[in-house]
Amino acid sequence: MRSAPIPEMLIDPAGSSRDAIGLGQSAGRGLNVRHGTILTLEDINVAFDGFKALTDLTLYIGVGELRCIIGPNGAGKTTLMDVITGKTRPNSGTAFFGETLDLTQMSEVEIAQAGIGRKFQKPTVFEALSVFENLELAQKTDKSVWASLRARLSGEQRDRIDEVLATIRLDGSRQRPAGLLSHGQKQFLEIGMLLVQDPQLLLLDEPVAGMTDAETEFTAELFKSLARKHSLMVVEHDMGFVGTIADHVTVLHQGRVLAEGSLDAVQANEKVIEVYLGR
Ligand SMILES: Nc1ncnc2c1ncn2[C@@H]1O[C@H](COP(=O)(O)OP(=O)(O)OP(=O)(O)O)[C@@H](O)[C@H]1O
Ligand SMILES: [Mg+2]
Repeated sequence: MRSAPIPEMLIDPAGSSRDAIGLGQSAGRGLNVRHGTILTLEDINVAFDGFKALTDLTLYIGVGELRCIIGPNGAGKTTLMDVITGKTRPNSGTAFFGETLDLTQMSEVEIAQAGIGRKFQKPTVFEALSVFENLELAQKTDKSVWASLRARLSGEQRDRIDEVLATIRLDGSRQRPAGLLSHGQKQFLEIGMLLVQDPQLLLLDEPVAGMTDAETEFTAELFKSLARKHSLMVVEHDMGFVGTIADHVTVLHQGRVLAEGSLDAVQANEKVIEVYLGR
């Protein structure tokens, strides 16, 4: 469902100021983040066969920030994540991770290895393997299943997996086949599979879709506990959830940044109200 187009002149390039919140503690692993900005997107344009999915999009994410991206269906939220992870190449614009890593020149694998982890909406855990084995596999760089499972874990790697199991509240289910977990637990396992790789920036696309209220509440707690140590970009339609977690919200509409600020501020924004209510 697409809302009515709004006149060009009403679109305020709200995201064009360099106002990412640098809550930054550790950026980790030598990533150069001198200005407290972990992600810099400037004037990004993406067109699919002439259809403009992203137009002059500028967005900065601060180190340790928890940013929510909201916007109607088709606004370009997933495309934005595709650009960051190298799945989609922008037609123009710049995309930097830290000060020096040019994402437009890196492969998807290089981007993941540099410290950007992405969770898709549908969980993709290995159902026949145990929870522990899923985490073990995610941690290894050699992605061949059997080679990975045969290689001995170092004490440090095992400790990290234990720590993540506690974080995602699956320590009691470590030997369970992942296929037997609930939908929500599979989602947590998949978040765990990102965490064992210690990503500095986590991209989460509609993480609470299909979750129970209790699972959604736990996800909010989890994300708040991950922020600061990690930077998070969360795309979500659930406004209750966004209200609980967001430092800062960016509203996308028709591939452009429509508004940016606290959830209260963007919800009070006339242009945002217009887009959501279709007035
Ligand atoms: N590979 C593609 N080829 C052609 N058009 C595409 C492609 N990917 C996305 N689009 C179009 O770009 C627009 C933005 O899509 P996108 O998936 O980024 O929206 P979204 O904000 O994630 O929406 P939703 O809330 O429904 O997930 C849509 O109109 C979509 O149809
Ligand atoms: Mg989407």
